[in-house]
Amino acid sequence: MNLQEYKEAVEKLNLYSHHYYVLDDPITTDEVYDKLYHEVVEYEQNNKDDVLKNSPTMRVGDVVRDGFTKASHLTRMWSLEDVFDAEGLQKWLTKTYKLDKNISFYCEPKFDGASLNLIYENGELVQGITRGDGEIGELITQNVKTIKTVPLIIEYDERIEIRGEVVIFKEEFEKINEARMKDGEAVFANPRNAAAGSLRQLDSSVTASRNLVFLPYGVGENLLEHKLLSDKMEFIYSLGFRKPPQSSTCKDFAEIEDIYEIMNRDRDSYSMMLDGMVVKVNEIASQIDMGYTVKNPRFSVAYKFPAVEKITTVKEIILQVGRTGAVTPVAIVEPTDIDGVVVERATLHNFDEIDRKDIRLNDKVIILRSGDVIPKIIKVLTHERDGSEVKYERPQSCPVCNSELLDEGVLLKCQNLTCEARVINSIIYFASKPCLNIDGLGNKIVEALFNSGLVKSVVDLFDLTLDKLLALEGFKEKKSQNLLNSLEDAKGSEYWRFLNSLGIEHVGEVASKTLSEKFGSNFLHVSKEEIIACDGIGEEMAESVLEFVRVNKETILKLQDILKPLEPIQKAEAKENPFKGKTAVLTGTMSESRGAIKEMLEELGAKVSGSVSKKTDFLIYGEDAGSKYDKAISLHVECLTEQEMREKIE
Ligand code: IVH
Repeated sequence: MNLQEYKEAVEKLNLYSHHYYVLDDPITTDEVYDKLYHEVVEYEQNNKDDVLKNSPTMRVGDVVRDGFTKASHLTRMWSLEDVFDAEGLQKWLTKTYKLDKNISFYCEPKFDGASLNLIYENGELVQGITRGDGEIGELITQNVKTIKTVPLIIEYDERIEIRGEVVIFKEEFEKINEARMKDGEAVFANPRNAAAGSLRQLDSSVTASRNLVFLPYGVGENLLEHKLLSDKMEFIYSLGFRKPPQSSTCKDFAEIEDIYEIMNRDRDSYSMMLDGMVVKVNEIASQIDMGYTVKNPRFSVAYKFPAVEKITTVKEIILQVGRTGAVTPVAIVEPTDIDGVVVERATLHNFDEIDRKDIRLNDKVIILRSGDVIPKIIKVLTHERDGSEVKYERPQSCPVCNSELLDEGVLLKCQNLTCEARVINSIIYFASKPCLNIDGLGNKIVEALFNSGLVKSVVDLFDLTLDKLLALEGFKEKKSQNLLNSLEDAKGSEYWRFLNSLGIEHVGEVASKTLSEKFGSNFLHVSKEEIIACDGIGEEMAESVLEFVRVNKETILKLQDILKPLEPIQKAEAKENPFKGKTAVLTGTMSESRGAIKEMLEELGAKVSGSVSKKTDFLIYGEDAGSKYDKAISLHVECLTEQEMREKIE
């Protein structure tokens, strides 16, 4: 690699990364990215003087500090006035209209994370500062540089402060907490804490590992001349920042209400946590006229969503035994209405969590309910204790079958394979949606079947008859027949469902699909190496599969015989041909539909992609080929007519 190639490689990596992180629309594979990245690293190691400021290697967190220095914001970072309902919004509007009648509004989600101020000079990120007290914050530039959605270089030379919220996506948050739990570390209460905590790491490699996302919401000091905030924000996004979802302009109370309703209704479907909607006056001149109170801008307001956190009392801690034998403590709390749902229990994750948070019976606690996640206790209000609180002792024996529990530190496990709770939960799991999806086998029915002695394992389900069911209390003709029909319908299901229903530890829906696709019923005979060779399957999972098969082979075969799940169609590997392993793009009108030609090429082992890039091996064009053809020519991609393609195949 020479200097010119190095510069091009950096450009390319930044483009890939921009598409991946900012536009959420990848244009290459990890493999291609990694290969180029390593070439860049190698070049930089040998040519230290050439290293570009916007090289992706500048994002690597390898700086460990003793503490943070303070830094001043160029202009103050304000807070927002909150309103909580339509009445509050109306009041704010009345107040605001008094200052200026001719205004419209810009609405965007209020992201629940940590605010961050970015200062750019001569197009270069020079400082990243936490909000702090609004005047002075902590200088965390090195950590900020690890955030992929923060451009290191922008195409704008004037000094500018770009402000936004650093968030952690909910999915990422769950992953971090799962890993922390495994390592015996305290879990983060919510994505906001996780984001704030990750930003203020002394070791920036920790920040780098957290997949933080920066969402811009405004500017501080700036020389921009846009008349509308909405235009200003479009300009900011165009500098390479990630555009937050769902920002819109509107003109009055009714429209603000509509947008709010929709955002609140859909809040759980966003990747990040939202805690409200921010309404801002869209006209910059009016904003300037309105100015600020001591704390807040007069031209904007936070219209909060109904609270998802409430204070309640822990009444009892009960224990649940799952199908794997893991014992999970659950807090029974004083019933509390949270955003329209009465919450009566909250997960405690595991026993370490109880110890770490020092949760006692009778404690006042804050619980959080958000979306479809199980409510959880995020804080104990220790200052509210009055002496009536009782410490919780770890159980020694299974609350269901009384057998001794295996203490794995974080987890306590019932070892008894015939423990009633384990069996019942395995059956419920077997019938659940991502498994065999058998209607009419909910908790209550499974318990009744188990207690009657008719069903002691999943295999017994298929020996049920109408007579046997009718003999049970509460089983009328219709219900019984429906159940039998559902059981019959479970036969001939997709193989992955069958595999997933077995409940092999660590093997969920995704792994079941992978294993089924690759092996079908052959998974009973594969080696550890073959399993690990599958995408996304590691050592732990492979061992778990092998152990499960070793212990349960008889049962699996029996079930397979009853259920006859469909073997997946194995795609035969394509024979050697000029298109195998190549990437092709189709354009123009051909003698057959493009779909048919795509299928034919895929059968030959080619990948057919929608757009031309340097990775494209062939452009295959028909009549009236347009811009794709021009692009292919300019990138020196080999172009074939349909006829030439057919000749090549033959
Ligand atoms: S505008 C004048 N817009 O909420 C203050 N803030 O409660 C500028 N926040 O400190 C705030 N999403 O950290 C604004 N779309 C959004 C926001 C947002 C989240 C945070 C921000 C601010 C806090 C105020």
